Parts: sequence; structure tokens; C-alpha cells
Amino acid sequence: MSRVNGSWSPSQTALSKANIVLEATASSGKLYRDGLGMIASENIVSPMVQRIVASDLHGRYAEGLPGKRYYQGCTDFDTIESLGIKLARSVFNTPFANIQSTSGTVSNIAALKALSKPGDKITAVSTADGGHISHARMGAVGLRDLNLSTYPWNEDRMEPDIDGACSLIRELEPRVCLIGQSVFLFPTPLKEIADAAHEVGSTVMYDGAHVLGLIAGGAFQDPLREGADIMTGSSHKTFPGPQGGFLLSSSEDEKLHKKLNNAIFPGVCSSYHLHHVAGKVVALAEFEEYGESYAKDIVKNAKHFAQALASEGFDVLAESRNYTASHQVLTRHGDTDSGAGAKAADLLEQAGIITNMNMLPGDTKALSPSGLRLGVQELTRVGMGINEMEEVASFYSRVLIKGEDPSTVKKDVAEFKSNFQIIRYCFNESELSGYPL
Ligand SMILES: Cc1ncc(COP(=O)(O)O)c(C=O)c1O
Repeated sequence: MSRVNGSWSPSQTALSKANIVLEATASSGKLYRDGLGMIASENIVSPMVQRIVASDLHGRYAEGLPGKRYYQGCTDFDTIESLGIKLARSVFNTPFANIQSTSGTVSNIAALKALSKPGDKITAVSTADGGHISHARMGAVGLRDLNLSTYPWNEDRMEPDIDGACSLIRELEPRVCLIGQSVFLFPTPLKEIADAAHEVGSTVMYDGAHVLGLIAGGAFQDPLREGADIMTGSSHKTFPGPQGGFLLSSSEDEKLHKKLNNAIFPGVCSSYHLHHVAGKVVALAEFEEYGESYAKDIVKNAKHFAQALASEGFDVLAESRNYTASHQVLTRHGDTDSGAGAKAADLLEQAGIITNMNMLPGDTKALSPSGLRLGVQELTRVGMGINEMEEVASFYSRVLIKGEDPSTVKKDVAEFKSNFQIIRYCFNESELSGYPL
């Protein structure tokens, strides 16, 4: 750094490092602008949310709850967070909402902290069957030192084996029965599981990270009215807000509310990223207006996309259940543990289609699975409907079945995508300004 004409000018070496970040950010934006974002856990934020996330709030602190802060300067943020709690209670139709969590994983860590003690028993879906890493010993469950047992799995129905799960719960009497997956094609028959859990004094915790927007939009299942006591989730998957989490409960018990709030702060968060919380509040307001149609359109598109892929000759899972009732579609591309999913994901990326490889039932190796997990929530957000789902399926076929050169397909993908640059289901629908910086 040197001082030139009274102002500090940065060294060229430092500046060139920052420029690497600017260029890579712009390049990543272009990849998604010209391509098809189909990772089931991702989404894009509305122009208004994007403005809030880039605001001065990103540098501020507000520990505590509205009206009970450890810092000065929080009056305006109190207005924002109070409104957000009210909106979250209304959008998720629940008496308790904490909107501070910085991610779905943080919501899970906090919920487990509030609900259990080290050494307690917990039941959950295994990661091999689609459970999330935070449901496993390697993640939040291990962090709380819980004693994990996993439900038997019904491969045909792609859901827990309900009789087996209920027997396990009655036999083990776990402190927490955790429900929900990362691979989440169909609603879980929750009532039977919740009845068994409540019979033995367990708490039912539903992880709705992936399907939260579908739940709030009335297009999936309604866990908090089907027996779940607690619902956690991410604010940035099918719920189309900025990255963050929610912690919700159907209980009217104020002692539990206090425990849940304390588990977030001071339990697992100090600063809780005020710009993202404010962005969540705007996303909640937008969801009140547009959420129901967005959720219904996502599920309609996913079903149509699955059928279109099957018509192209792909092996789409859960055919007997009409493939999917969520935003996700699962495809098999080769033998178990063959790595065919990884190869397919790589070829698709060369054609401008961004997906992720995924383990399917039978796979044992996370880095060489046989499948892909695909999500249509981002394509729906930019206005694609069932006709476009057929076109997208034909791009998959050109790359993976007909063996066309992915770079040729990439040009057609970019031309197709150029017609879908406006963010929908939000206030001030407009082209995203943040793409190339
Ligand atoms: C079921 C489930 N729970 C929790 C999470 C974690 O969410 P986040 O990435 O917001 O921490 C995920 C992530 O995909 C998930 O699939």
C-alpha cells in the first residue's frame, strides 16, 4: 500500500487477488445465467431480497430477541425481526417461530440441544437412504453425542418402512424421533410415526430443509398438524429466501419456546447475520403473496420433468408412485457404486446443466454413486412450465443417451435459457442485477 496524492492506493498484488475473486464471482454468475441450475438444495433470491442482503445490515450485531438486546442501535432491526417472527408464524401456521438460525444445519444443532441430553437415544433416516449428514453421528447427532438408530427403509415407496419405524420407536423409546431427508420425493406418513413416538414420550422433530417452501405453500404435507412437535428447515431451497434457517414449533408451551430461543442464542449463534434475517423477512412477505402458486408450480413441473425423462428412456426412480410429489427427481445412470452418477453430472455440466451426483438405494460410496438428484425449483422461479420441462429433458437425452457433444448442446441450452432471465413469484419482478458484477 502507498500514499499517492493524499489517498491510499493498494498494492497491485493485493488488488490482483481481489480481482481474482471478482472475476470468479462474475464467471459463476454467468454459468448460472446461461445454464440450467438444477441442484435440489439451491435457489435464486428476488431482486428485493438481493438488495437487503447487500445492505449495511451485513455488518451489524443484534444478540438477543427484539426489545431485549445486548447492543444499542437495534431499534430498526427490532422492527424487522418482530415483523419476521409474525410473518413466519403466519406463513408456517405455527405458534412459535425463531428466524435467527444461519442455516438448516444450525437449526438442527439448536433443536437437538434444546430437546436432548448427551447419551439420549434418537431415531432418524440413515444417510444411505437419503437422511442428511446432520442426522448422523458424523454431524449434529454426533455433536450432541446421541445414540442413533436408523429406521428400516421401504425402497419401493422411497420412505421409512412405517410398521418397522413404529416398532423401533416403541422398542427404543428414543428422546427424539427425527423425520425428513435430503432425498425427499414423497411426504412421510407422519401420523403413525407421531402416534408411536408420543405413546412413549418422544418428541417428533421434522427436518423440512428441502421441502419447506412446498409445505408453506400447501403443496406437500403439513407436518406440524400431522404430529410433528418441531420443524426445522433452510430458508433457501424450495423456500426461496437468502441462505439461513428456521426453527418452528406447534407447541403452545412457553417453557419450550424459551428453550428453543436459548438454544439458538446463546446456544449456537452470537451474531446471526442480520442482513440474511432481513432478507428472510422480505422473502416471507413475498411468500405470503406468491408462495402458494410457486409451490404448486414446482411440484407440477417436477412430475412433468420426471415423466419427460422417462419418455426419453431414462431410468427414473419410484415409477410406481408416479416418480415424485416434491421438487426432486431421482435418476439411475448405471450399476450400483459404478460412479455413473458422477460421470453423468460431469457431462451435464459441460453442457451447461448444473446437477449433483447422488447415492441411490444400494449405493455405498458417496463419491461414486449411480444416480443424480435433480430439482426444478430454480427453473420454475424463472418462469419455466411443463413445456419447458420437456425441452430440458431433451437436453439431458442429447447429452446422456444420444451422446452428442456437450459443447454443442451447451450453445442450445444458453439460447433456450436466454428467454428465462426474469425472477418470478416476487415483488418487482425483474432481471437479476447481480449476475455479472
Ligand atoms: C434434510 C436436510 N437437513 C438439513 C440440511 C442442511 O441445510 P443447510 O445447508 O441450510 O445447513 C440439508 C441440506 O441440504 C438437508 O437436506
